[in-house]
Amino acid sequence: MARAKIALIGAGMIGGTLAHIAAREALGDVILFDIAEGTPQGKALDIAEATAVIGTDVSLKGANDYADIAGADVCIVTAGVPRKPGMSRDDLIGINLKVMKAVGEGIKAHAPNAFVICITNPLDAMVWALQKFSGLPKEKVVGMAGVLDSARFAYFLAEKTGVSIQDINAWTLGGHGDDMVPMVRHSTIGGLPLPDAVSAGFLSQSELDAIVDRTRKGGGEIVALLKTGSAFYAPAESAVAMARSYLLDQKRVLPCAVWLSGEYGLSDLYVGVPALIGAGGVEKVIEFTTNDGEKAMLAKSVESVQGLIEACKTADPSLA
Ligand code: APR
Repeated sequence: MARAKIALIGAGMIGGTLAHIAAREALGDVILFDIAEGTPQGKALDIAEATAVIGTDVSLKGANDYADIAGADVCIVTAGVPRKPGMSRDDLIGINLKVMKAVGEGIKAHAPNAFVICITNPLDAMVWALQKFSGLPKEKVVGMAGVLDSARFAYFLAEKTGVSIQDINAWTLGGHGDDMVPMVRHSTIGGLPLPDAVSAGFLSQSELDAIVDRTRKGGGEIVALLKTGSAFYAPAESAVAMARSYLLDQKRVLPCAVWLSGEYGLSDLYVGVPALIGAGGVEKVIEFTTNDGEKAMLAKSVESVQGLIEACKTADPSLA
């Protein structure tokens, strides 16, 4: 069987890291696409040379022409600009919306059967626009945010409690912004929902509250430290988990920004919820039971996403 073809649209910090992981894991042949000339070619050649050491039989190629992504099975989109200190993800909308238009048209023309994972921020609005610009089926276009946000939540819990990260299962819902909803009742340490883990003495309520707050601001914490850009290792790993679930038909349940048509009482927008990812793309949306407090937090987060979608429609009336 032919190897899978993975097109990485954007060969910056996340794109390069994605290419490295895909090559190490022999997930498929990699096309690294960027508008910058030389960057995708240089990174592809550097990683291709590393495959001789790693011992993986995959090819890597840098490209500046969308024709090179022809027939891709998966496209992972990071094209655009990242945040600098002091910026919110929403500040990126003007530039990155135009980038999504170019990328969407490129995917539509050359890789219409791909499973598309968008990472570009502001995520929930950019994946919505990318689906519109590309015209691909909604179950084949998803946004990566929840795996990353949940990974941050899980890491902070593991760090605080000393419990293996393997035995922590954390979930966040909602938009990929500071009002995302870490799901305290649905997240577990060794099978104990977090409120029970507090009762059992794994951590105090105030420590849990601080972790929830830190999770919400997790992206900004990295931006403030790096100063020149935003996170890239954990975002790349998160997108690879989603791509792997699609390519290998693993049917993992992962929190992703997916198109909703009635689930959680929401329609016609992309927002982060647990979704089953298999060979059909988004095969099922999993609905958590939500109490009044969780519903209110989700509604607030969704309101922010809707505001960003309206801003996209104003910036590009073809989306209205
Ligand atoms: N088409 C293709 N590539 C583009 C385009 C375009 N129209 N515009 C910009 N790019 C490329 C840039 O040349 C750059 O190489 O996108 C790449 C972005 O890489 P970085 O600046 O290193 O950004 P990165 O850290 O990878 O983040 C990318 O993901 O998490 C989000 O907020 C982040 O929106 C940002 C995106």
